[in-house]
Amino acid sequence: MSPLKPVYLDNAATSHPKPETVYQAVAETLRGGGTSGRGAHQQAIAADRLVYETRDVLCDLFHGDDSSCFIFTPNATTAINQALFGLLKPGDRVVTTSVEHNAVVRPLRQLQDHGVEVVKVAASPNTGIVSTEALKSTCLEKSTRLLLVNHCSNVIGSIQALDGLVAWCREQNIIFMVDGAQSAGSIPIDLKALNVDLFAVPGHKGLLGPQGTGFLYVRRGIELEPYIFGGTGAHSHSDRQPAEYPERLESGTLNLPGLAGLHAAVTYLSQVGVDAIRQRESELIEHIISGLQSIDGVTIYGPESLADRCSVVSFNLLSNDPAEVGFLLDQHADILLRTGLHCAPDAHQTIGTLSGGTVRVSPGYFTTDSEIVYFLEAVLKLREHILS
Ligand SMILES: Cc1ncc(COP(=O)(O)O)c(C=O)c1O
Repeated sequence: MSPLKPVYLDNAATSHPKPETVYQAVAETLRGGGTSGRGAHQQAIAADRLVYETRDVLCDLFHGDDSSCFIFTPNATTAINQALFGLLKPGDRVVTTSVEHNAVVRPLRQLQDHGVEVVKVAASPNTGIVSTEALKSTCLEKSTRLLLVNHCSNVIGSIQALDGLVAWCREQNIIFMVDGAQSAGSIPIDLKALNVDLFAVPGHKGLLGPQGTGFLYVRRGIELEPYIFGGTGAHSHSDRQPAEYPERLESGTLNLPGLAGLHAAVTYLSQVGVDAIRQRESELIEHIISGLQSIDGVTIYGPESLADRCSVVSFNLLSNDPAEVGFLLDQHADILLRTGLHCAPDAHQTIGTLSGGTVRVSPGYFTTDSEIVYFLEAVLKLREHILS
């Protein structure tokens, strides 16, 4: 059976479609009125309840210390900026990897201009994974305040092992932060077991929520300075920012319709189970990789083992410009995927594709087998067309 078009294979950018309940929750909340932390009338109280319940469902899904550790942000980028600018001071040292997204690279570059030392540890050009030993030994070269790693690369698909690092960082008194933009909702994550200090997540990718949502998880005991100040609905008499979380880091009116959608999305994810999502996405990735491997002239990047790969496959076709390949797949086959550098030039430098980037396929939980068959046929046809 041929799939409905267009065929959406760009879930690493933002997940699509969302569960039906997400659309309903956003629309109902937008119509319903009210805003949280800003009054005591019935709509305001209902809004407060929704915000608390959304923190609670996130805390249950990720097994956080408690729900006040989940700070709402408009996206992962804001969460990352809040963590970095709230933590780092001139003279601090940060160790990170060569596969970070610009959401990490650019704030760190800005902080470098203000006296923060940044050291990038190279990932393997084949797998995109950074050796745990290399991260540890680089941290030990000099006093290090923060180790920051990308859990899953949005370019290479590589999954970075976190287990051996967190306990070690605690022993060494190094704060451990994870960019969970591509892993949250796609890979089971137990924040309590991992004991990670800071974890930044968008709501609109693997969590299946709306754009304009996200959070920063701040483990109990980690002190961050706010980098945005303003109204929180609490301690209104004071001209100082509240000291307690989450209000300390959550100034301004929250995106209530977005959070209603996120609540519905996380409820859906909890019912399906992130294990089931991981399994389904791995099957799709296996199908894509084995199909692409059978097409002459396709170069696939990233880890061979499915256990080391999230729901992302980057490839190139013959020596063609990836942007052209993506354009032709869109124009002639109605296939939507992302090409180029994917906001992560360091990752492309690592795998040797900095000049034009790659074509990136990222299926999601709702991607069907027939869509993958159709995509593989379209790549094969395109190859024949290029060679004709
Ligand atoms: C690894 C990684 N980190 C951070 C981000 C930034 O996420 P957002 O656009 O939600 O801020 C992305 C988005 O693609 C990403 O893939």
